[in-house]
Amino acid sequence: MIIATTIEEVRAQVRAWRKEGLTVGLVPTMGYLHEGHASLVTASVSQCDRTVASVFVNPTQFGPGEDLETYPRDFDHDCALLESLGCDLVFHPEVSEMYPEGFATYVEIQSDMPKQLCGKTRPIHFRGVCTVVSKLFNIVTPDKAFFGQKDAQQLAIIRRMVRDLSMGIEIIGCPIVREADGLAKSSRNTYLNADERKAALVLSQSVFLGQKMAEEGETDADKIVAAMIAHIEAEPLARIDYVSAVDGVTMMPVHEIRGTVLVAMAVYIGKTRLIDNFIVEGK
Ligand code: PAJ
Repeated sequence: MIIATTIEEVRAQVRAWRKEGLTVGLVPTMGYLHEGHASLVTASVSQCDRTVASVFVNPTQFGPGEDLETYPRDFDHDCALLESLGCDLVFHPEVSEMYPEGFATYVEIQSDMPKQLCGKTRPIHFRGVCTVVSKLFNIVTPDKAFFGQKDAQQLAIIRRMVRDLSMGIEIIGCPIVREADGLAKSSRNTYLNADERKAALVLSQSVFLGQKMAEEGETDADKIVAAMIAHIEAEPLARIDYVSAVDGVTMMPVHEIRGTVLVAMAVYIGKTRLIDNFIVEGK
């Protein structure tokens, strides 16, 4: 596996692959990789001739007071995992390589879409995500790029960006990978102490509860959300940021389960903000 730290090294390698007529898949990550990330790499390895993963904790998507400085990092472990999965190249740039002095160009969706859900408490987050993902797309020029359904709003926003800017990259959404007890895998789970780790189960439990209600025919989205909120509020260590039902494409609030609906949540467990969600296909 090649470890590249400069944009030029990545471009040269991708050019060589292109000359051989090979297809390229990209898996963008912030590192501290777990089985969730691994599932994206495995999907890329199975669908593309060559796979590039990026490991870059992107400063522009963190707001003031968020966990940029403390975000967990373990590049040696990441490389070992990526290599074992068949990844061909890992791109691990310095911040100055991605954001040289004077950097001033951002990619931002100018609609209410990035202001919903996580955008309410993280107003600059999706501008940072769109900017860094655009840069990665320009650097790697992949045929396909792989993102997790775990970050459902991010996935929807990237699909919109690719469509609006005619980027010509196929975006593949991959299912949420969970721990055996249901907790969605996340690099941030490492912040949880033993009590918080137990309390964090209210997220996945409420996802399963909402999913079951929808499967059993409940079409009132507000009722589903209310039942999920009641379940989470019973846990003293949990503090809800939001639990919302939104249109699966536009991310705008809905009250009825009709078409593709995303039911998403962000919940603080102690100081750690965790997210989870499910998608339901209404009639
Ligand atoms: P990060 O949080 O490292 O996640 C990288 C990718 O892994 C994202 O597409 C995310 O949805 C996916 N992922 C994380 N946990 C998952 C799980 N339990 N199951 C399935 N997929 C999972 O998301 C980011 O980084 C950044 O915003 C990034 C896109 C790299 C831009 O900086």
